[in-house]
Amino acid sequence: MLGFRKNKFRFVILIISIVLQLSILKAELFFKPFNVSYDHRALIIDGNRRMLISAGFHYPRATPEMWPDLIAKIKEGGADVVQSYAFWNGHEPVRGQYNFEGRYDIVKFVKLVGMSGLYFHLRIGPYVCAEWNFGGFPVWLRDIPGIEFRTDNKPFKEEMQRFVEKMVNLMRQELLFSWQGGPIILLQIENEYGNIESSYGQSGKDYAMWAASMAYGLGAGVPWVMCKQTDAPEYILDACNGYYCDGFKPNSYNKPTLWTEEWNGWYTSWGERVPHRPAEDIAFAVARFFQRGGSYQNYYMYFGGTNFGRTAGGPFYITSYDYDAPLDEYGLLSQPKWGHLKDLHAALKLCEPALVAVDDSPQYIKLGPKQEAHVYRTEIVCSAFLANIDEHNTASVRFLGRVYSLPPWSVSILPNCSDVAYNTAKVRTQISVKTQEFGSPSSYMTEPRILQVEEVVPTISKTWMTLEDPVGAWSENNFTVQGILEHLNVTKDTSDYLWLITRIQISEEEMSFLEANEDSFTPTLIIESMRDVVQIFLNGQFAGSAVGRWVRVVQPLHFVQGYNELAILSETVGLQNYGAFLEKDGAGFRGQIKLTGLKTEEIDLSTSLWTYQVGLKGEFMKVYSPDQHKFANWVHLSPDKLPSMLTWYKVLNFLLLMECFNQDSMLRILQK
Ligand SMILES: *[C@@H]1O[C@H](CO)[C@@H](O)[C@H](O)[C@H]1NC(C)=O
Ligand SMILES: *[C@@H]1O[C@H](CO)[C@@H](O)[C@H](O)[C@H]1NC(C)=O
Ligand SMILES: *[C@@H]1O[C@H](CO)[C@@H](O)[C@H](O)[C@H]1NC(C)=O
Ligand SMILES: *[C@@H]1O[C@H](CO)[C@@H](O)[C@H](O)[C@H]1NC(C)=O
Repeated sequence: MLGFRKNKFRFVILIISIVLQLSILKAELFFKPFNVSYDHRALIIDGNRRMLISAGFHYPRATPEMWPDLIAKIKEGGADVVQSYAFWNGHEPVRGQYNFEGRYDIVKFVKLVGMSGLYFHLRIGPYVCAEWNFGGFPVWLRDIPGIEFRTDNKPFKEEMQRFVEKMVNLMRQELLFSWQGGPIILLQIENEYGNIESSYGQSGKDYAMWAASMAYGLGAGVPWVMCKQTDAPEYILDACNGYYCDGFKPNSYNKPTLWTEEWNGWYTSWGERVPHRPAEDIAFAVARFFQRGGSYQNYYMYFGGTNFGRTAGGPFYITSYDYDAPLDEYGLLSQPKWGHLKDLHAALKLCEPALVAVDDSPQYIKLGPKQEAHVYRTEIVCSAFLANIDEHNTASVRFLGRVYSLPPWSVSILPNCSDVAYNTAKVRTQISVKTQEFGSPSSYMTEPRILQVEEVVPTISKTWMTLEDPVGAWSENNFTVQGILEHLNVTKDTSDYLWLITRIQISEEEMSFLEANEDSFTPTLIIESMRDVVQIFLNGQFAGSAVGRWVRVVQPLHFVQGYNELAILSETVGLQNYGAFLEKDGAGFRGQIKLTGLKTEEIDLSTSLWTYQVGLKGEFMKVYSPDQHKFANWVHLSPDKLPSMLTWYKVLNFLLLMECFNQDSMLRILQK
């Protein structure tokens, strides 16, 4: 009897605990539910105008293991909001098959942001640019009959609406909107469409209005933004993107002044110098924005991170998306940038009561030819910004009876209209110098990383191993057809690489002619137009390469008598992510491919039989992965033998595929 009672008791406890756990899971409230609206001055969060600092951080550009630490550093840096795009081609790699796992677990990401007490701005796009492959569009979108991207086109609008609805519904289901107690306070539809709208004439205008009303009609319950959209309708906020946005005014008096992308750095293109924007200038731009009436500012990027796998856009963007951001690619504080901006945010927070209290324009006082003050004053509070926009000279100005010295190109922030809490040109944060050691295993580098030759030079040593990839077809998955197929139509972007192989017969007569006329006749391959990289091999030997976006290729070739095998490796280096008519851009070759410089007439290779092979062997065998690399036949890098143009290199746990566009650089490495 007693035993039975005890069991019953346990049973009741079990039920209670299940009910409790269910209710905790269901009502994951991060905030007391609140509404978001706006007026001409600011976003209104739970009834109060707010001045907001936002940190751009794209979740798939870090690993989920890194997210909590990065979000903590964003909060410590003084931000109120985290902002990210949604990445359609990551979330729907195959039409109708969604992926919300791993780096694409956006629900987990938004919850982590909410748990830390920060708000979230979700920019759905779904065109996002973002230096991301194909601007975020899935490559399968090209194959939908009759589709034209980003214009008044039924197939496109249907696909776009399906994805936008999917994202809004997912966020609603997970109770992530502010009115549900979640962190999402803002959304975005489209992205910088104003830049290309005129390319589409009236259809462009119609599409922009459709996108706005479609988004608004989803009833998400928080405001939508369209950046760089000067014709945004009354119910959608328009916003500025740029290096400086202090002159920006929205297209209606009823809208606040928002800055969705403050370009605090820039992305790096292959072979180009790494961009740098000084902390002082970023702080100047942000302080000026709030000085002149701004109310929401987002750092693009606060953390840039890494383009994992093949997600980099292009052409020619590299694996790193460090962006010279306050948090570097590895999530370390980039000083003095992080600290100088943290100090700025603290000063701005001191001004927030005055900034939100002044309903209209601040009081403007001209202090000198290139010096000015904006004063936010009510009977209770007073904050002021003193700017010196002279780039070269310090200015001494008189303000409310006191003298202030303003360094060149700077803003002084006076939270109580008297004492300077912060000047954008005076960096108090300690500068740190980071050093980097290659060859050390990194926990999250499990996907291939393409480095520039100069990065590898200091690390060449005996420990390097090499693996050559075969030239030409390497699997049963090759096929032969007549003519040149469009690159993406064949690869469907499952790989950057596409081999095209054909045979050319050189008769005895032709050969003797060529030998006799060596000075005046050189057989030459001409490709009318090509993007992004082509490498040309004749009879297994590297002949030459070219790099560019729709460039003409002229490659002399040295044939032998009889059959010659011409193998051309066509490569993409990140699909175009910016501009109008993206669906028409394609990749590979355009126009004729021909042979000139022969005794006979030109040979048109465009109509020859070509064998196609998608991808590299090592790529499909995943020789770069921690599990698979040991199954390949690696050999030590020898200083005596030049590795082929298509060689994998590894050192310790660190693997990379290095392609040499310039054989000289490789020779230099080997001689070191
Ligand atoms: C938000 O606004 C809606 C619609 O006006 C209202 O029903 C709801 O009570 C508001 N929620 C809060 C938390 O104020
Ligand atoms: C302004 O603030 C500073 C420090 O925060 C304080 O020392 C000073 O007395 C204040 N001045 C006025 C006029 O309130
Ligand atoms: C190319 O494909 C054909 C037909 O499937 C096959 O017979 C041939 O072995 C393949 N080539 C290679 C190198 O695997
Ligand atoms: C790519 O394939 C589609 C249909 O599969 C075709 O309509 C289009 O013309 C092809 N593109 C090129 C450049 O060949």
